[in-house]
Amino acid sequence: MGIQQAIWQTRDTYLRQFGPDLPVAFFDPAVLADTARMFQQGFPGLVTYAVKANPTARVLRGLIAAGIKAFDVASPVEIDLVRGLMPDATLHYHNPIRSMQEITHAVDAGVRSYSVDRMGELEKLLAQIPDACEISVRLKLDLDCSAYNFGAKFGADADLCVALLRRVMDSGHIASMTFHPGTQCTDPQIWAAYISEVAAIAKRAKCKLHRLNVGGGFPSHRWGEEPDLAPIFDMIKHAHIQHFSDHAPMLVCEPGRAMVADSFSLALCVKTRTDSIIYLNDGIYGGLAEFRDIGHIERYEVISASNKPLYKNISDFTVFGPTCDSLDQLSAPLPLPNDIEEGDYILFENTGAYTHSIATRFNGYGDVKTVEIKNT
Ligand SMILES: Cc1ncc(COP(=O)(O)O)c(C=O)c1O
Repeated sequence: MGIQQAIWQTRDTYLRQFGPDLPVAFFDPAVLADTARMFQQGFPGLVTYAVKANPTARVLRGLIAAGIKAFDVASPVEIDLVRGLMPDATLHYHNPIRSMQEITHAVDAGVRSYSVDRMGELEKLLAQIPDACEISVRLKLDLDCSAYNFGAKFGADADLCVALLRRVMDSGHIASMTFHPGTQCTDPQIWAAYISEVAAIAKRAKCKLHRLNVGGGFPSHRWGEEPDLAPIFDMIKHAHIQHFSDHAPMLVCEPGRAMVADSFSLALCVKTRTDSIIYLNDGIYGGLAEFRDIGHIERYEVISASNKPLYKNISDFTVFGPTCDSLDQLSAPLPLPNDIEEGDYILFENTGAYTHSIATRFNGYGDVKTVEIKNT
């Protein structure tokens, strides 16, 4: 159960003073900058940012200001977005499926780094990219420690990785490898297992890998204890040394979630209450979309609109979103104070990743006001 004390008074003050009807995303730029620095100081290689997690200009600008110069992009729109803010940014186009038009767009935009996980897509790429591009072969293993299984969609098994690496080497391009352990992965051993397998594959293919991209997947503080990324970084460093005695590839990571999640919180207003049912001004078609897919954020508190002390008695509430669709309901009850009432706010922490980027405008909802705050 995650009812917490307020961390920043300014958020309470803002909500009580303005009584916003729209969902409010509180953004703390200092938290974003600190997280970017933590990655750059702790990760033993190049830190890139997976734009998909939060492609808003304020986040991209904040990361650029904090020293991030390379980005994982998944589409022409993301390419243009980053280029518009940082014309000389390094772009890694790591969505392994691309149309011919998308490849042309990337080539024209100066992208020189791509990932692949199947032969047909590699041939498509080879037909269009200029000389001396980096091509990262994406491995998948049958391991599970994450919120959902990325291997179900992308990644090649070991035999196919060997064949892809050989084809990349034959083509004269630069051979690298990559993997993604799955988002919100908490077990450092998963990275170790991947790195060990990458080394074995490179050996079989007689390939000196240029770089190894160990993905995103780093956990954010969504539930339970605050995850410590240091043991994951240490495990990556250790496995890299252990499995690549010589010709060790340079390391790269591409975090999305862990880079941005904690720099935002989301305040949602109770539109009405009937017994143990509440209706919020946002739901699974908006900022709470990931609740449906990977479970509730357990870090939240209720802020009383009238500043009355809420009862300590907590019970389970059914929570509906604002649309006319009856599927717009949280998949599990939310424990809340018994006397929560219309006009009160629920303030969810850790909402910076995959909140804005996957929210829809269904039924005219999904609009969010962003308010910058300072962690005082
Ligand atoms: C290729 C790639 N890299 C990085 C990420 C970011 O993952 P996460 O947000 O779990 O760090 C994703 C997420 O979909 C991805 O597909």
